[in-house]
Amino acid sequence: MNDTDATIVNLELPISDEHFTQVFFGLWRMGQRFVVNKGGTASGKSFSSAQKELLLSCCDGQRTLIIRKIASTLKDSVIPSFRARIAELGMEEYMRENKSERSFIHALTGASFIFRGLDDPEKLKSIEGIDRILIEEATELTIEDFYELNRRARGREKIQITLNFNPIDERHWLKKHFYEQEVTNAAKLESTFENNPFLTEHDRTEISYLKQFNYNQYRIYALGEWGVAQVDNPWLYSFELKKHVSPLPLDLLPNNPVHLSFDFNINPMCCIAFQYSRHRGEGTYVRVIKEFELKNTTAVQAGKLIKAHFPHHVLTVTGDATGRNKNAGYSQADETIWTQMIRTLGISAAQMLTPTRNASHKESRYLCNYLLQEHPSFLIDPGCESLINDCLTARPIETDDPNKEDQLLKGPGNSTLGFNLLDCLRYAIWTHLKDFGRRIPIGTPNPPPER
Ligand SMILES: Nc1ncnc2c1ncn2[C@@H]1O[C@H](COP(=O)(O)OP(=O)(O)OP(=O)(O)O)[C@@H](O)[C@H]1O
Ligand SMILES: [Mg+2]
Repeated sequence: MNDTDATIVNLELPISDEHFTQVFFGLWRMGQRFVVNKGGTASGKSFSSAQKELLLSCCDGQRTLIIRKIASTLKDSVIPSFRARIAELGMEEYMRENKSERSFIHALTGASFIFRGLDDPEKLKSIEGIDRILIEEATELTIEDFYELNRRARGREKIQITLNFNPIDERHWLKKHFYEQEVTNAAKLESTFENNPFLTEHDRTEISYLKQFNYNQYRIYALGEWGVAQVDNPWLYSFELKKHVSPLPLDLLPNNPVHLSFDFNINPMCCIAFQYSRHRGEGTYVRVIKEFELKNTTAVQAGKLIKAHFPHHVLTVTGDATGRNKNAGYSQADETIWTQMIRTLGISAAQMLTPTRNASHKESRYLCNYLLQEHPSFLIDPGCESLINDCLTARPIETDDPNKEDQLLKGPGNSTLGFNLLDCLRYAIWTHLKDFGRRIPIGTPNPPPER
């Protein structure tokens, strides 16, 4: 028997292991001041943390504060969930609910559970003498809300603050505070619906379906990975999932070259493979077949792996014009990334289509959007998940300077804001499909005139 079982059995609660998820056992073991409970939807965060708070508090007679940003949301979600957990844990007999106070008190141990919103005028008084705080939907709180709660949670031994949340935005303070710096006394837990054995097949299918409608939401709620809050001004304003992502995998067309477009970031090295027709009439197409995100690799290793996917196709290569530079990270002696790549892919100089310069973000934004809007058949394979995510979430920097307004908001190559695959797409379009926008001058700051 492990210590978790022992604690539960000692409490003499009529409930066994099989009533708990992995998330519960993860939470149960954590004794740090902060428990950072991040995850996708339906992973069992709320259910499990309510179970933990109820079990712990009844044992020690503690005072627990359960917080949401807005008080009125408590009565529809959090309080009913506690009521249901109380019943399942067989605590109904001892637990007294005071609806007007929004609290439960255990008749034997004196443990209390107080539910408050941060908009509650009485909230600060409720924090006094608190042993434990559970924050539901913690992304609703501002960092000032959090600092204030943390500051006021004092005067008791081993106070614990648990934060439950979905990773809705990679710019959120929760990420900066707990994931991008060293925080002492914080334990982190990650979970997705895959960690919850209590879901039905139907529940699972519904969550997985998100992928077809909104990849960003799929990332956040199915994969439990940091996503991007609603992008009001997308960089690719003409990109539409329904129009540009094929519902079915795209076949590689035989007897048609495969064009590779690289972004030579050090890590990951990224590439897209695509095919397109040169003619413009009926049956014209552009198809992005595959994406590669290769971590901790060299140009030679990457070249071999990519070549193995297209052994019988003529290949061409384009990409980041700075890949010509010797100092871009992979080069040895007088070799550049490009010369290594050409050698490994076994292609001739004629198949190297590297531009002499990269498009400016302004030129590129205009051309990409024009193509997405006007091309009758521009499709991306549904397996190109990172590219699709980039297309949905990329946004320009916020600026009042008209010369900078199309500038892509970028972070380091290995961050959510790397947009490496979008860079590959930009280079591909710049090299191969620049002509598509010929009727309008490249570099026009405004969308094309009405035709
Ligand atoms: N221990 C459990 N026993 C039975 N069912 C459970 C258990 N844990 C979770 N579930 C089921 O899984 C569902 C989702 O759990 P929960 O609401 O805790 O997820 P969550 O991670 O808080 O989701 P969200 O991020 O959407 O708030 C519950 O409504 C319940 O049906
Ligand atoms: Mg929840």
